[in-house]
Amino acid sequence: MVTDAPQTAAGWLETAAALLHAAGVPDARREAARLAEAAWGLAPGQARVHSDSTLSAAAAGRLMTLAGRRAQGEPLAYVAGSAGFRRLDLVSDRRALIPRPETEGLVGLVLERMGRGVVADVCTGSGCVALSLAQEGDYERVLGIDSSEEALALARENGDRNGLTVEWRLGDLLEPLRGERLDVLVANPPYLTSGEYRVLDGTVRAWEPRLALESGADGLEATRRLLEQGPTVVKPGGWMALEVDCERAATVARLAAGFGWLDPAVHHDLFGRARYVLARRSESS
Ligand SMILES: C[S@@+](CC[C@H](N)C(=O)[O-])C[C@H]1O[C@@H](n2cnc3c(N)ncnc32)[C@H](O)[C@@H]1O
Repeated sequence: MVTDAPQTAAGWLETAAALLHAAGVPDARREAARLAEAAWGLAPGQARVHSDSTLSAAAAGRLMTLAGRRAQGEPLAYVAGSAGFRRLDLVSDRRALIPRPETEGLVGLVLERMGRGVVADVCTGSGCVALSLAQEGDYERVLGIDSSEEALALARENGDRNGLTVEWRLGDLLEPLRGERLDVLVANPPYLTSGEYRVLDGTVRAWEPRLALESGADGLEATRRLLEQGPTVVKPGGWMALEVDCERAATVARLAAGFGWLDPAVHHDLFGRARYVLARRSESS
């Protein structure tokens, strides 16, 4: 309750941190500060700057509501309502997967190989990959595809928030790209097996969309279709860049070769795990 207790911002930060700590949240003080910035509309790192100032009951209430949600197990990004990705500050909520740091590496690999032309990000979710490519690359056009209307609405919101232009399209994998000739096709598709999904970390399973995570009995349903159908939309000599499950990177590289992609190569993420497969479409096919 917000009536009989600490009046300063610092006092409320301590109260929120104690609640998080008691709920088993690691790094409770840092998270309390992040939630305070969200609750009080402050820029990152500003929560402690005005810590001696007296807080209104309304502002204290907003912080404690967010801390309560976090203490119940909701992921920090959803409670705070935002997530950082490369240079972007993105709205984050239950409509789409929380952008992961591993996926930042996928964007880097694409930019190093083909930073211009036409690029499509299939399975765009929050729009993090498409928007980073639009921001950091020199592309003629960037397209972002998802089969979830909710995710696509969030991606569009993120584009507007960051002042970036992406052509958003709703639909199943490559269907909305019919007739396009891409220089790069990039995707972080769902890639868990049904079995892996069943035993996944409870927080992820409870809060993040299943559609973003699971892809059939072998986890490769979406990936296989992308590899098989990719040549219909990628130009000869163009690139395919996929994020994959680290247990299945070699399998995906073999599948890519089987579908005629040239020199499929496995790359590692910042944690040293085999996380990406990149390949080119042959010039002649
Ligand atoms: C692993 S999430 C990736 C989201 C985002 N690109 C990221 O890296 O955070 C996969 C996304 O694929 C979308 N998706 C799943 N099946 C799809 C399909 N058949 N066609 C298009 N999008 C699909 C989900 O809605 C989800 O947004």
